Parts: sequence; C-alpha cells; structure tokens
Amino acid sequence: MNYDEIRKLFLNYFEQHGHKIVPSASLIPDDPTLLFTVAGMVPWKNIFLGNAAPEFPRVADVQKCIRAGGKHNDLDEVGFDGRHHTFFEMLGNWSFGDYFKEEAIKMSWDLLTNVLKLDPNRIVVTTHISDDEATALWKKIAGKDAIRLDKDNWWSAGDTGPCGPCTEMHYDMGADLPGGLPGSPNEDGGRYVEIWNDVFMQYNRDANGNLTNLPKCNVDTGAGLERWAAVMQGVRDNYDTDLFQHLMDATSDVVHVARNADNTPSFKIIADHLRAVGFAIADGVIPSNTDRGYVIRRILRRAMRHGQLLGHNGPLLSALYPALVREMGAAYPELAREEKHVVEIIKNEENAFRDMLQNGLKLLDSELPNVQNSVLPGAVAFKLFDTYGFPLDLTQMILRDRGMTVDVDGFDAAMREQKERSRADTRGTKVLWESVSDKVPATDDTTKYAPVADMSSKVLAILRNGEFVDSAVPGDNVEIALDKTNFYGTQGGQVGDTGELRIGADTVVTVAEAARAGNIVIHKGTVQKPINVGDKVVSVINPIVREQTTRAHTATHLLQAALRRVLNTDVEQRGSRVAPDSVRFDFSFGRAMTDDEKTAVENIVNDWIKQDMDVKHEEMSLDAAKSRGAMALFGEKYGDIVRVITAGDVSCELCGGTHVYHTGEIIRARINKEKSVASGIRRITMSVGNLAE
Ligand code: SER
Repeated sequence: MNYDEIRKLFLNYFEQHGHKIVPSASLIPDDPTLLFTVAGMVPWKNIFLGNAAPEFPRVADVQKCIRAGGKHNDLDEVGFDGRHHTFFEMLGNWSFGDYFKEEAIKMSWDLLTNVLKLDPNRIVVTTHISDDEATALWKKIAGKDAIRLDKDNWWSAGDTGPCGPCTEMHYDMGADLPGGLPGSPNEDGGRYVEIWNDVFMQYNRDANGNLTNLPKCNVDTGAGLERWAAVMQGVRDNYDTDLFQHLMDATSDVVHVARNADNTPSFKIIADHLRAVGFAIADGVIPSNTDRGYVIRRILRRAMRHGQLLGHNGPLLSALYPALVREMGAAYPELAREEKHVVEIIKNEENAFRDMLQNGLKLLDSELPNVQNSVLPGAVAFKLFDTYGFPLDLTQMILRDRGMTVDVDGFDAAMREQKERSRADTRGTKVLWESVSDKVPATDDTTKYAPVADMSSKVLAILRNGEFVDSAVPGDNVEIALDKTNFYGTQGGQVGDTGELRIGADTVVTVAEAARAGNIVIHKGTVQKPINVGDKVVSVINPIVREQTTRAHTATHLLQAALRRVLNTDVEQRGSRVAPDSVRFDFSFGRAMTDDEKTAVENIVNDWIKQDMDVKHEEMSLDAAKSRGAMALFGEKYGDIVRVITAGDVSCELCGGTHVYHTGEIIRARINKEKSVASGIRRITMSVGNLAE
C-alpha cells in the first residue's frame, strides 16, 4: 500500500464514520507561540479553547507538520534512525465535543485490526497513569492490558494551551530487533514503534502550569503516515518506503553517486530536508536570519553539506524539487502551483552558500591541527558563522563526524563582541555624545508625542567639528543638547523633526534633523546667531514636517498589515525609513509582486484610510502587549513598558513612533515602486497625504 492509498484509506474510513474531510492547513501556524505547525491539532487550537465554533463536530485530515525547532524538534535525529523526520504527515481524526474516549479507541482499533488487518498481538497500548477510564476501555474493546505511563502519555503542543492524557498504540516491528516495551529502560531500541496517539483534550494549561477544564471534551488523534507506510510495506525503516526510495533515487541521479551502507545517512537527510524546505517555502517561508526563516535556511545548508559529502557541489534541493512535486504533488497541489517560486528561492540560497561552504571547510581544515582536546575554539566557529554563513549547528554536525565539539560559550562571547563593534561603527558622533553621557543628562522628551510649539529649555552642550565647545558662531555646523525638547529624535526608522532654536524673536539655530545618541536628543543644524552653553532657548518644531511624518508612520503600519493579507502572513518587516516625503519599507518576500498584488495592497490601505478607523496609542507591559498579539521586530530590544499602536482591528504593533489618531488623517497612500534589495527582500516606496493625491 503506497502513500496515496493510505491517505485515501484513512480519510475514507473516517468519512464513513461521519467525519468531514478537510485539507491540510499551512505549515505557518496562525499562532505566535509556535514557529511551525508541529502537529495536526495546531490549526484546531482555537476550537479546543472555545474561542471559535467548529463548523463540523467530526473532522479528519492529513496535516503537514515540521518539527525542527522549539519544544518539538527532531532535527538531530534525522538520518540516524529510520523513524524521524523534520517534515512529516500526520493522519488525524477530531471530535470537537462530540465523541470521546470510547468511540475514539473503538475506531482506532477497528481501523488498525479490521481494515489495515494488522496482527492484534503485535499491537501494544499505553495509557496515562491517571486514566482508569481509557485503561478499562482497552480491556473491554480489545482485551488489552494497557501499560500505564506518566509523561509519555500526556500531550500538549506548547507549554501552555489545550492538553490532556493520551493513549498510544505501538507496533512490534519484530522480535529480532533490540528494544523493550514502551516505558522500559531500553524502549528506544526500535522494536516497538508508536503508530497512533489518541489525545483526550480536556484541559487548558495556563502560564503558571494550572489546569482548567476546557469548555468541552475533545479528541485529537495523530498517526505518522511515514510509519504506517513502513508497517504496511513490511519494512523497518521509514526511508525504505516507496516515497523515500523514489526521492533517494532522484538524489542519486542528481549527485551521480549510488547509495551504499556508508553514504545512506546523507541520502536520508537530503530526502528529509528536501521535504521540509520545499513544503515550507511553498507555504510562504523565506529563508532568512530570523525565526522560521532561519530554521529553513539551516536545514537547507545542512542538506548542501550532505550533498558535498557525496561529492556534489552543484544545485541540489533546487534540482530535486521536481521529484518532490512528482511524489507528493497529487496530495498537495500547492507544490506544483508554487514550483517556479520555490525553485528560484532555493537556487538563490544555494548559489549564495555554495562558495562559502567550500571556503569555510578549507578554513576549518586548516584550523583542525591546532584544536586541543577535540574542542574547536568559539572564535573559529564564529568566523565560520560570520564570514562563511555556517550556522552553529552545521559546524557542530561537521565536527561530530570527526569526534569533535565546539566551545559554544566562546562562540556566544564572540557573537556579543561583534554586536558591540558593529554598534560602535554606525554611531559616528554618537560615540562622542555617549562619552559625555555622565556630564550631559538624558534629554527630557516626554512631550514629543504631543509637541508644544514653543518649549523653553536650556543649552547643555554644543558639539562642533568633533569637539565640545562653549559657544558657536553663525555658519558653524553643530549638534546641540538641551535639557528638554519637543523634537522627536530619529528612532525606529522614523526620521526626526526639523525646526529652529530661538532666543526672543531671533532664530539662533536652524535644525535640519533631531537625532538620538542613547537618551540624549541631539539637534543637528547651522548656527544663525551666536549661541552659548547655558543660554535659554525656545525650541520650535516644523509642524508640517511632523504632521506628514506622522501620517507616513501610521500608513506604514497599514501597509504591513495589507501586505500580510495579500501576500501571506509570513511577510515580515526587514527595515523601514519613515520620512515626511516618502516611506521606504523592506520586507521578506521571495519574488516580485505582480501589478494586481500591488493594486490590491494599495486599495486595502486606502480603504482603511477611508474607514477613518480609530488609532489607539497605549502604554502597557511587554507581556500584555505580547498577549494582545502586537507585532514586534525580531532582534529588537524592548523595555518592560512598551507603546502599542492599534489601528482599528487591522494592525497592532509595538512602536515608539508618532501616529495619527484616526486613519482618515493620512488622506491617501500611493505605492510608487516595488523592487528587490537583496535575496528574499523586497522594498516598497510609498508616498502619503497630499503628496500621494
Ligand atoms: N497531538 C497529538 C500528537 O501530535 C495527536 O495528534 O501526537
């Protein structure tokens, strides 16, 4: 029985038992607590929690899953045994407050023994130590004495959320294999393989670990299709099933090497990683340096390393993707639909990494003679990361083959130092300001969000030509710190205010831009009339520039929300510059937008502007903001109290910028250009307000 036949058989069985058959949800979960869909239950979480009403009380599906980061991570196991995968398919049947333990166990048993005709004597069942009911049901339905276990028979997707006791069915792959019964000390030997897990979702676990009853008792079952295929095809290794054999044959053709006992792990890893990378990108993940994009980049690079071990340096996963479409495209039409896009993205990644992999390996080889006690210095691993793009786990994987490890603490320290250095490089005169931060106190800019036109303040310091001076004369270009200011200093992509410093009726300094050095706001400009440290001045911002920048900033939030609607929810901000005359917004996306997509995005933004939605400006704890689902930038450091900007119900972001109070104030937005700035990164330029009109 091949994969297509097993999928059909499973779904037919449950359709006959009153279940609605639904397609797999995306691998990108609609759930900020997870990087990927790690189990069949993820898309149904809100129904279990009672936050959404189920459309059907009984459902069955085959769900695409990735376990390669976070709580559920099988990455390191792949290739070394026959039953782990980063990407796999989970067969599942669901009851949303409909049937419970008895019917679930009955159907599982019936399907395994009467339909698949597995030998009942080769099936071992386990239940949770607390679950007398399920234990008694197994006795009644199958005449089985369940093995009662604790944590192995309790299931949850994350640290919080729906969970409950479960009962697992294990299949005896053969008495000649090593390995004991589930729960025994040598259970990992491979003789007994878990083939189905029925979870009785009864509880919700909160952040403190407390359990409360869910509104209804539900059933969540999950069965690994790859393991079913192995059992049904009479093989002991998932990679010996038809689908994987075909993918590994295709790999052989691409790398021009035949499989043998020594190189088989590399073939398994490449076949596994092809599925994870191919499916994830088809669902909208872009390889990148953050979160799920980084997981996929790492997996792709590991696959390339194994290609190289097989002596192959050319295109690998990009060349193999058509084989994946051939094998799995009938069950997952998105694979063929996205083929061009996926191959292009993988090609870009492979091209970018190919030479680096060669050169990095040379560097590594040259360092090995100096390695002491089989531990590679963190600085070398960091150089491989920084210069050659080797994720730490790739270096670890390469060294594992040679019986060596990496000094991970040293790697982390080198990473920290580099961050410090790069911060210093981009600082310019900021370094000078920071060097006097013990003498020049933080600027009080608490009124910057509601700027008063005329604010009296005192000159604390003047920087001219790299030196702090007591006074400056007309024509000098200076940077000035005041004790307090209504100027917004450039921050978070928003360009700072322009304006003037006055004494009486005289303009003494024209300010071209307010910037920031740590907590000091620096007014950069040209002196018009003599000015001295200690002078009392009045700071006046240009209200038109401020108004236009404010419009642009809120419009940027709407743009991001609209892009996520039109393209996909994996679109992420990669950088932005919000200026009075234009917005530049960089985001992760692997191809050019079509004209239709650009028009759709622009129309959505303008509709939201027309709807004149309220924009709320609030301060709250970081935790409160997160639980509200506010979008934050990865890698950005936030304080304990953050500002949250919420536009209607379409956008909610952590943001320190200035914003309108009603979207109608933006007047209009216009996308001027959309282009590539780096592999997988696009840039939109947009104008707003009257400029857009
Ligand atoms: N959620 C359970 C699991 O992943 C059953 O589907 O094993």
